[in-house]
Amino acid sequence: MSTQTLDSAVRSAPGAFGIDIGGSGIKGAPVDLVVGEFAADRVRIATPRPATPEAVAQTVADVVASFELPTEVPIGVTFPAVIQHGVARSAANVDDSWIGTNVEDVVARATGRLVHAVNDADAAGYAEAHYGAARNQRGTVLVVTLGTGIGTCMVVDGTLVPNLELGHLEIDGKDAERRAADSARERHDLTWEQWAKRLQKYFSTLEDLLWPDLFVVGGGVSKKHHKFLPLLDLRTPIVPATLRNDAGIIGAAALAYREQG
Ligand code: BGC
Repeated sequence: MSTQTLDSAVRSAPGAFGIDIGGSGIKGAPVDLVVGEFAADRVRIATPRPATPEAVAQTVADVVASFELPTEVPIGVTFPAVIQHGVARSAANVDDSWIGTNVEDVVARATGRLVHAVNDADAAGYAEAHYGAARNQRGTVLVVTLGTGIGTCMVVDGTLVPNLELGHLEIDGKDAERRAADSARERHDLTWEQWAKRLQKYFSTLEDLLWPDLFVVGGGVSKKHHKFLPLLDLRTPIVPATLRNDAGIIGAAALAYREQG
């Protein structure tokens, strides 16, 4: 089945609202789901400190309140942790107090709206698969976001396989994201060549385990893809993400719409 068939419901949808909860900012925008683009400029408010569930939910509500949104518009929220049925189950790069928190309930209480919460990489990857770099790609797409951590998202023939925590694969006895995330490049002041060696090992491991048809590389550093992607030698085609910073918001909105339907 092609991705076009699978996402036809989303493509004919009127719209939804996406929120990206990040370590430094909480960003939101209404999304036109037919084209997979923002329907209005996004609004960003700094992430509160400490980033407790209640404080973050209130900031999400403030972002939503900046727009005149009909009450029935579904809200999709990204979160940088495993999200099982609305509940955060891990906290690799966020406050531990989130573990066990029902992100959907806490944001729904603050906004008075229906909320669907998803892992940040799943949201970004879903958007890339449906509207971005992997649009119309058949088979298995693995989207890898390189940032503070490593987020991974698998989409098979248009269907998301959620919560694939492959950033935490143990390679040479170490958590992969500690060595190969963009934060590791910055922390250790690595040259592009040095970082590419670590990425080579990471992506080779992924392709040997999962045999994807396409890798898509996202995260802020993906805009500098020409510095490191050409240094990798893989059997799997590897391309930069095209939706960049917008991907999380667009994917969260699309997934919220699907969930509601
Ligand atoms: C988390 C993932 C998240 C990724 C990117 C990892 O440390 O475990 O859930 O998707 O970072 O934010």
